[in-house]
Amino acid sequence: MGEEARPEAQCLKEGPLDSARGSAPGPAQWEAEDVRARAAELGPWFHNLDLRGVRTAPDHFLFDFPAVKWASFRDHVPADLSGRTVLDIGCNGGFYSLEMKRRGAARVLAVDHDPHYLAQARFAAEVEGLEIEFRQLSVYDVGALGERFDVVLFLGVLYHLRHPLLALDLIHEHACADLLVFQTMQRGSEDIVAVEPDYDFFAPAPFDAPGFPKLHFIEHSYAHDPTNWWAPNRAASAAMLRSAGFEPFANPEAEIFLCRRVAKAESGAVYPARSEGKEGQGSAPSPGSGDPQRAGGPLIP
Ligand SMILES: C[S@@+](CC[C@H](N)C(=O)[O-])C[C@H]1O[C@@H](n2cnc3c(N)ncnc32)[C@H](O)[C@@H]1O
Repeated sequence: MGEEARPEAQCLKEGPLDSARGSAPGPAQWEAEDVRARAAELGPWFHNLDLRGVRTAPDHFLFDFPAVKWASFRDHVPADLSGRTVLDIGCNGGFYSLEMKRRGAARVLAVDHDPHYLAQARFAAEVEGLEIEFRQLSVYDVGALGERFDVVLFLGVLYHLRHPLLALDLIHEHACADLLVFQTMQRGSEDIVAVEPDYDFFAPAPFDAPGFPKLHFIEHSYAHDPTNWWAPNRAASAAMLRSAGFEPFANPEAEIFLCRRVAKAESGAVYPARSEGKEGQGSAPSPGSGDPQRAGGPLIP
């Protein structure tokens, strides 16, 4: 499933796609000059990897990214992942997948819906000689994997999604067995006001508190990127995670949450109805659910 109306998330400008290795050298043969040439072909990069001394995004606007981000939470991720399985959703150039494999994960599956980034991550894994599996996949399709992973990385993706809660629900329902490592761009206050079980309809003041969970909607574009749809504040990130069945137990910096998957009080993921035989299986929409034909045509033509 792709996002409607706006282009797919890109992080940086789109670059040429070349997932074929062609006659490129094998893993043992990578020399710095071959790495430099191939990395340039696969650019532009969002991840500033260090591949045999070659930096893939040395002029990144967030500096040495994502190494600087990783430094803020690396000590909260188990140092020994022996025997563990890891799913990296929105892997981009593969920085975090490489780190998980370096920590001994038995299996790392890196997915991204953008083949341009997958080609970069594949190349990085080959140069580093690390065995990582790759698959072009949208987070909305994690159910198709038919497998739960001990660790799920969901970093830097939520705000690119038109349906962020659906993505969290799907990860809970299908993909995560235990640990979710989550990061999102955030805007607004970093305060967190304790959430009440209910609110008085005639006393709306709590909504004005900076630390009330708030999800800022971006109608057009943010930071020149039309794939940025939402910017939660810190309280909203925590609340959405809890609502989706992920209990945060560490928040080493405002944007980073480490969560345990827990049983979920709310209902599960809501799947969009699809017409049978055309776009896959699914139940037919019920009257009044927004299907103009079943509902007797549009009320306002
Ligand atoms: C800001 S980058 C974050 C990359 C990396 N996870 C990190 O934290 O550095 C967002 C990545 O998510 C991917 N992405 C966006 N929407 C996605 C979707 N629906 N399914 C899978 N990947 C998606 C983009 O292609 C991009 O590689």
